[in-house]
Amino acid sequence: MLVLGIESSCDETAAALVDDLGRVHADVIHSQVALHAPYGGVVPELASRDHLRNIAPVVRASLACAGIALKDIDGVAVTNRPGLVGALLVGVQAAKGIAWATGKPIVGVDHLMGHVLSAFLRRGDSDNPLPRYPYVCLLASGGHTAIYRVDEPRANAIRELGATRDDAAGEAFDKVAKLVGLAYPGGPRVDEFAARGQATRIKLSAPMASPSSLEMSFSGIKTQVAQIVARAPHREPDADRAVWVADVCAAFQAAVTGVLARKVIEAATQQRVNDVVLGGGVAANRELRRRVSELGAERGIRVLLPSPGSCTDNGAMIAYAGATRLARGERDGWDLVVASRTALERRTRKGRGKR
Ligand code: KG4
Ligand code: ZN
Repeated sequence: MLVLGIESSCDETAAALVDDLGRVHADVIHSQVALHAPYGGVVPELASRDHLRNIAPVVRASLACAGIALKDIDGVAVTNRPGLVGALLVGVQAAKGIAWATGKPIVGVDHLMGHVLSAFLRRGDSDNPLPRYPYVCLLASGGHTAIYRVDEPRANAIRELGATRDDAAGEAFDKVAKLVGLAYPGGPRVDEFAARGQATRIKLSAPMASPSSLEMSFSGIKTQVAQIVARAPHREPDADRAVWVADVCAAFQAAVTGVLARKVIEAATQQRVNDVVLGGGVAANRELRRRVSELGAERGIRVLLPSPGSCTDNGAMIAYAGATRLARGERDGWDLVVASRTALERRTRKGRGKR
């Protein structure tokens, strides 16, 4: 079964062709990073307009890349939640048009479900091991951060074990990057700078470090960094500053990835499951990948890391998640709607409890 996956929930217009075994036949992404960079964040109206311009070329490019025509696909999967409503609408309308014109079935996919299942993707001729159900997934992206127990690839078979009470981990990376003057989007830049810095030169306390709770919080550490930046003496753009920025990035990244790694491995231990997978843009972070792998090896837990390109937003994860729905015989109708919120379970309440 070959599925066309379409993604337009935020600032990437993406289309991919993936089969029901997770093999990626094509994966095309048009990034809007340059468009939003001057504003330091995604501007919803600009995002929708740019998706409109790029959706058809991106779909055509994915078909050309796989060397097939629309008539060769077995179904269309499209992100219909969560995300920016105007942006989601562009992908959903395009998908409906394709499904109508070709007579193929259409299924809506929850974007978070795409991230949770992204470890099933196989790119090129790689035969990376696949997760076995049930597994524990740490999903850390720009909009969401949660730890799930995944029993099956269905929204109602996915249980939230803990999530952030405030900011998402990716949001914290982006805000810290902005505070120290790194370009948007900051996550990958913090990753680069941190590799050159020394985490121990800047003192930061780890956010909600108690492993007994799987809940998380990332707004406090962002405030700590803001205070350090405000107190910093020399802050002219010079070589010294680059060293200092690297140290701040290293300290911040060590604190955040340390907590994420401990909590996801603890979750797997508590749940007595053998497999841990990562998903979402922050799962591309090299230190997070290293720490989770290391802790997993210590505790006898298998850690499966999607390739960095499968972690950040892409159409392939949507196509694969859609393939699991189509394989069960599920179909959506022309009344498929978009929603700004996820369909996955949410237990952790924002702002709850003592920090
Ligand atoms: O999953 P994603 O592409 O989009 C959302 O669904 O939000 O995640 C984007 C987030 C951004 O906050 C970005 O800065 C962060 O993931 N990110 C990273 C890295 N690559 C992307 N954060 C840390 N290290 C990275 N290498
Ligand atoms: Zn995402």
